[in-house]
Amino acid sequence: MNATITGWGNCTPPAVLTNDDLASVIETTDEWITSRSGIKERRISHVANSDMATLAGKRAIAAAGLEPTDIDYIIMATCTADRQIPSSACYVQAKIGAVNAAAADINAGCTGFIYGLSMAHGLLATGQAERILLIGSEKISSYLDLEERSTAVLFGDGAGAVVVEKTDEDEGIRAMTLGSDGTAAGTLTATGAGTEFIGSDARLAIVMDGAEIFRNAVIKMGETVLHVADEAGWPLDDIDLVVPHQANVRIIDAVRRRIKVDEDKVFINIEKYGNTSAATIPIAITEAVEQGRIQPGANLVFTAFGAGTTWGATAFKWGPRVEPIETIGDELPPLETTALEMIESKQEAIHGWAK
Ligand SMILES: CC(C)(COP(=O)(O)OP(=O)(O)OC[C@H]1O[C@@H](n2cnc3c(N)ncnc32)[C@H](O)[C@@H]1OP(=O)(O)O)[C@@H](O)C(=O)NCCC(=O)NCCS
Repeated sequence: MNATITGWGNCTPPAVLTNDDLASVIETTDEWITSRSGIKERRISHVANSDMATLAGKRAIAAAGLEPTDIDYIIMATCTADRQIPSSACYVQAKIGAVNAAAADINAGCTGFIYGLSMAHGLLATGQAERILLIGSEKISSYLDLEERSTAVLFGDGAGAVVVEKTDEDEGIRAMTLGSDGTAAGTLTATGAGTEFIGSDARLAIVMDGAEIFRNAVIKMGETVLHVADEAGWPLDDIDLVVPHQANVRIIDAVRRRIKVDEDKVFINIEKYGNTSAATIPIAITEAVEQGRIQPGANLVFTAFGAGTTWGATAFKWGPRVEPIETIGDELPPLETTALEMIESKQEAIHGWAK
């Protein structure tokens, strides 16, 4: 049995927050952000995380030629759930009408999609599910504190989804590796959210040791790519496209140099979206298919590193189809505000801050 991707879809919310927008409210510059991270702009969601996830999920189900009632398991990788209780996957289950599906969230930080793919593989292999909707979706803008400028400029909102199904064909997951190091949890964490903070006046913010995260991300993403390529029996020249987690273009570049693959074999879209955590890889997969960067039978490697800390990679052989079977006309509700207004009013409401 193989586990393969049969549908793919994105929801990248329309409100764009540029580096210049950020520079108009905090002490930063387009030059600093671009040269340190490769990010030019990011999206800010005007809807709930589960609404983005729902639209990405519907698009993926249509691309697979399925109905929501065909889905028997929804896994939503997120660290920015609408609420702690219930899971956002259950909101998605209701919003898409997946009445035959089990539903649960997982949180493995930015590695969430790879962890979800591993779980989907296990569920299919043990016969516990047949058609899984795996979503990576984040509304990280809700956690950002503009006064933490080293993180406020790096993240953005968005969702990507895939349908994972069983197949007897020679395609799908070829190798998988996962790891974690909870002793390094403090190097990337959100303060102010979670039971630990109930009743405390801790600020809501993402805080991190940027240099340490950078160093470990390069090491672990590089190691895991080499590991799964080896386990899949692929010489590095046989990899058609690496789809890495999009945290920093300099991290991606350093990984690329370590694993010695050409620039044109690495997918990068961080300039448009920033770091959307668990959503970066499914968003990138969908864009890579739409742009013709993933061809039938392509040998792909997905790799990520994130909060936990966690890391992982998958060697994946794409199937014969790069066109969606169906598409849908659904869109998010219209925007009634700008990205800058949204983050300013959130900052003011949470932190009593006005520029
Ligand atoms: C955060 C990161 C971009 C910083 O880049 P860097 O090249 O290490 O930056 P440096 O540490 O050299 O520069 C820090 C300086 O820039 C300043 N700075 C921080 N944020 C800034 C901003 N938004 N605008 C302008 N200056 C900023 C700091 O105050 C510091 O100034 P100082 O040297 O006067 O103290 C980088 O460490 C990084 O990307 N780390 C990984 C982050 C990540 O990927 N996290 C998610 C993983 S899933």
